[in-house]
Amino acid sequence: MGTRIIGTGSCLPETVVTNDDLSRIMDTSDEWISSRTGIRQRHLVREETTAGMSAEAARRAMDNAGITAQDIDLIIVGTVTADHVLPSCACEVQAAIGAEHAVAFDINAACSGFMFALNIAHAYLQTGTYKTALVIGAETLSKIMDWNDRSTCVLFGDGAGAVVLQLSSQGGVLAFDQGSDGVKGGVLSCVNRTNNNPLVETSKELGYVHMDGQEVYRFAVTTVPASVIRTVRAAGLSVEDIDYFALHQANVRILQAVAKRLKAPEDKFPISLDRCGNISAASVPILLDEMNRKGLLKPGMKIAMSGFGGGLTWASAVLEW
Ligand code: COA
Repeated sequence: MGTRIIGTGSCLPETVVTNDDLSRIMDTSDEWISSRTGIRQRHLVREETTAGMSAEAARRAMDNAGITAQDIDLIIVGTVTADHVLPSCACEVQAAIGAEHAVAFDINAACSGFMFALNIAHAYLQTGTYKTALVIGAETLSKIMDWNDRSTCVLFGDGAGAVVLQLSSQGGVLAFDQGSDGVKGGVLSCVNRTNNNPLVETSKELGYVHMDGQEVYRFAVTTVPASVIRTVRAAGLSVEDIDYFALHQANVRILQAVAKRLKAPEDKFPISLDRCGNISAASVPILLDEMNRKGLLKPGMKIAMSGFGGGLTWASAVLEW
């Protein structure tokens, strides 16, 4: 039995911020951002929350799958921007949608978070521990951006994407590959709340994302193609057999470089980053939902997915739709 995605959903904040909007509040331009990244706009939260968007994406995925919250017995949210340190975002989603039978928890693997969560859910389903899983990637990255750091804040956006997974005799996950390199953690980092116990001087330092863009770029264009190739081979396929590469949406130049290294046509790499920017763990499920709702995904198609980012972490999957 394969682990199959039977429904997808997504939710983006209402407010769209274009590159021109940003150029009115910081020293940047549409020309600089779009030529270096492919990003033209992003959605940023006002009142929306990570859990609220997650719950809405989950409702849409359940609706698409034709199931109810009562059917869900596992909820995993990949996020680095949960609204609370506790409870977890997944527990908030459980309460919001009324999935009373579910076990719910978050995982932190940054931009690979959705893919790591997908693999965990896949493993649970394969062992028979749970039957129907909701896997979500969700972020409100705008709250951890340093809006004075133009080289980083222009890249990211907010949003959530969700899938429903079930065992199926047809299709599903064919292979997985994941990895981490904690030694390089400093190239993409964000400090959490600092120690303020009575033994130390209280520090008011707030954590913002710090990124060595060129180092992250080098990591992505070497690690992602290698991981995708390993996964495709483990699935018993070749790169030519893959119908779509649904990759983490960080930068169009990274997607082009990966396509080149894989010797795959660029039109097999769907793009949402022009409209959404980089939404970390939410990127892949939002992209998948767009592809699903456009009718691009047909039964039997082979889809390669890959996430990569902070940790450093990466994870790829090949599945038959
Ligand atoms: N607008 C205008 N100018 C900007 C700018 C902005 N938003 N951000 C940086 N600049 C300037 C820099 O100050 C620098 O100016 P200088 O030459 O006068 O010092 C110049 O542009 C070049 O900066 P640099 O950082 O070398 O640009 P780059 O070509 O490496 O592009 C990234 C920067 C971030 C677009 C690129 O490194 C990248 O995409 N990296 C991957 C990041 C990523 O995807 N992270 C998430 C992974 S999950």
